[in-house]
Amino acid sequence: MNIEFPDKMQFLFDAARYKILYGGRGGAKSWGIARALLVLGAMDPLRVLCAREIQKSIQESVHQLLKDQIDALGLNEFYEVLQTEIRGRNGTLFIFAGLKHNVDNIKSKEGIDIAWVEEAANVSKTSWDKLIPTIRKPGSEIWVSFNPELDSDETYKRFVLSPPTGAKVEKLNWSDNPWFPEVLQQEMEDLKQRDHDAYLTVWEGHCKQVLDGAIYANEIRAATEQGRIGRVPYVPGVPVHTFWDLGRADKTSIWFIQVVGFEFRVVDYYENRGYALDHYLGILQGRGYVYGEDHLPHDAQNEQLGAKRTIEQQMRDIGRKVSIVPKIGVADGINAARTVFGRCWFDEEKTADGLTCLRRYRYDVDPDTQQYSKNPLHDEASHGADAFRYFAVAMEEPKTAKKKKAALVRAGGWMGA
Ligand SMILES: Nc1ncnc2c1ncn2[C@@H]1O[C@H](COP(=O)(O)OP(=O)(O)O)[C@@H](O)[C@H]1O
Ligand SMILES: [Mg+2]
Repeated sequence: MNIEFPDKMQFLFDAARYKILYGGRGGAKSWGIARALLVLGAMDPLRVLCAREIQKSIQESVHQLLKDQIDALGLNEFYEVLQTEIRGRNGTLFIFAGLKHNVDNIKSKEGIDIAWVEEAANVSKTSWDKLIPTIRKPGSEIWVSFNPELDSDETYKRFVLSPPTGAKVEKLNWSDNPWFPEVLQQEMEDLKQRDHDAYLTVWEGHCKQVLDGAIYANEIRAATEQGRIGRVPYVPGVPVHTFWDLGRADKTSIWFIQVVGFEFRVVDYYENRGYALDHYLGILQGRGYVYGEDHLPHDAQNEQLGAKRTIEQQMRDIGRKVSIVPKIGVADGINAARTVFGRCWFDEEKTADGLTCLRRYRYDVDPDTQQYSKNPLHDEASHGADAFRYFAVAMEEPKTAKKKKAALVRAGGWMGA
């Protein structure tokens, strides 16, 4: 086989635990990696896990890309493309998975030689922390490709700002791609004319400080500048209050917050999907905190998370102190969040995925008009941000209760509403 690769990609054929390719669109990252893996898999039997943060169906994976490259390379005789796998005649196997929701269930992950995480910009800290130890076969490698977005994103921090020892890290842009196609060239020129900042991000691979339409941009900036994102350990003996969002399809987000004087110590955060309530109660137990109140959204009064009784009933049954957060509009909730934000101290490690939600919570932007919608975008980030909004609303109750609570908070003895 005589297949060409851009110079900056030659390192894909040298051994290294981490191989990172990042940069703007059209840098030949996806094609190059797909081709390199197919070539390597034809030379030796390899188990390759192709992963991304969210993969709800095989259509969202690189399955199709690999299939096209098998055709382009004339490897159809060698590779058999099945519905959810690709098999080589020598035993090479490509499998596909989403990190956030099915990494626990990946068959045969013990024996993986190469894990390729594509579109990795928004892979969460939890997903990396879960994936990396499972890729443990001697000589196994982790390949990562992405277009950077925020310089605060976990993937960018972990692999570009402070990469692991021995990691090979290369930035590739369109200008490194000898086959950069005409159509993309035109799109690039157009965006360069229309919106230079967007051009720098999309095509030159520059990071942004904040996403367009980011709702808490100022609050996050202030928290960073004032050093309120850092090490915020649990204070023993002070109750931890939890604030929940129960999303559709069993997506659940939980903030863990202590009230100490006027400070809200945001000590922990957890999110997951596809589990019944027991799972989340197990997480609470496992954290080993002393708990105050569990603040649930009003839908806890009818949501069931896979059980006969409502969430509220199930939690009361096991003796937890439950409070239902008043139902107020999203805009008012966002205002409430802005009000409490300045008093929040976030643990950078334990709340990393929650902070990502707050940074990415944004108004929808129309790509043509650049106008913002009045409503937040409903996406992966919005659940964690919703739970944070409930926290803020729970802190802002009717006047008398509020006064009473303020007095209790000042006295350091607040235990919930
Ligand atoms: N090895 C290659 N041979 C021919 N064309 C290529 C090759 N690699 C990339 N290209 C062309 O460049 C385009 C962009 O490559 P792609 O891998 O999608 O970039 P990225 O993933 O960096 O955005 C592809 O659609 C294809 O037209
Ligand atoms: Mg790509």
